[in-house]
Amino acid sequence: MKVPHPIPYQGSKRNLAKYILPFFPQDVDILFEPFAGSAAISIAAAVHRKAARFHINDVNQPLVGLWNEIINHPKKISEQYRGLWLKQQGNGRKYYDFVRDEFNKTKRPEHLLYLLARCVKASVRYNANGEFNQSPDNRRLGRNPQQMTDDILSVSKLLLGKTVTTSTDYKEVLSLAEPTDLVYMDPPYQGVCATGDPRYFSGIDFNEFIPELKRLNKRNVPYILSYDGRTGKKSYGQSSPEELGMYRLEIDAGRSTQSTLLGRDDVTYESVYLSKNLVEQLDIASIHIINKKKAIRQPALFEL
Ligand SMILES: C[S@@+](CC[C@H](N)C(=O)[O-])C[C@H]1O[C@@H](n2cnc3c(N)ncnc32)[C@H](O)[C@@H]1O
Repeated sequence: MKVPHPIPYQGSKRNLAKYILPFFPQDVDILFEPFAGSAAISIAAAVHRKAARFHINDVNQPLVGLWNEIINHPKKISEQYRGLWLKQQGNGRKYYDFVRDEFNKTKRPEHLLYLLARCVKASVRYNANGEFNQSPDNRRLGRNPQQMTDDILSVSKLLLGKTVTTSTDYKEVLSLAEPTDLVYMDPPYQGVCATGDPRYFSGIDFNEFIPELKRLNKRNVPYILSYDGRTGKKSYGQSSPEELGMYRLEIDAGRSTQSTLLGRDDVTYESVYLSKNLVEQLDIASIHIINKKKAIRQPALFEL
């Protein structure tokens, strides 16, 4: 089944979902995504019935407002997007600037959806005053309204009645998780998201994050963490301290767009950490890395 993805979002894990889902334990009650963004893992988990319920959280309030509309009022937000998309015809840049000004005044969800669909790299950028200041990508008009409507309706069908949405700091959300739940975390990388308004882009503080993981360990809450990554020889993010006892997997995510443009062969490796209590629930022998390009399975490289 096609996995819908209504919110265009830089850093979305939609292409990695198929490598992450096999590590879900059986019978997850609530899947928590405290750094949800476009919630690619929650959507994929819902499609594959990997969790009974979902908790989508992001510190970015307008984004969570958009999530509420998509889940609870899918027809309305689809029509609003269609209206904005049609009005831009022949008047691209001026219209984009108009919608951006309106969004900065009102923070309306349909404006955010239009801006994300039209802006450079679907990347949320706010200035120091908290105003969205990303430029439009003038080569495209943004996702076609019919495709957008289809994805919104599908996601609403998957999540309606089973999903809690919040906009708060991740730490508050972690405190709600139980051993029968699963937490998937994709925090902003230092240096990648850490620009603009700190309300939305705070690269999280590593010194606060590690004790939070320790608390999850202590409460026996299983978790999966996407953290650092490396492209070719360049690596970013910090590696996690061994004392947490996590297992690290490297997923060969194929050539990065940047490398392809530069004609280089660099492959991006995405690191995924599995909590110790999660690995204990899984059959270790079945942990594999799936090589995307060659579609083969190879033994995982994991460390304690
Ligand atoms: C790398 S993105 C997540 C992308 C997501 N996995 C997806 O598939 O789209 C990180 C997200 O964390 C959010 N964020 C940053 N600081 C946060 C905090 N302290 N608490 C909760 N969310 C936060 C950002 O707004 C951003 O949407």
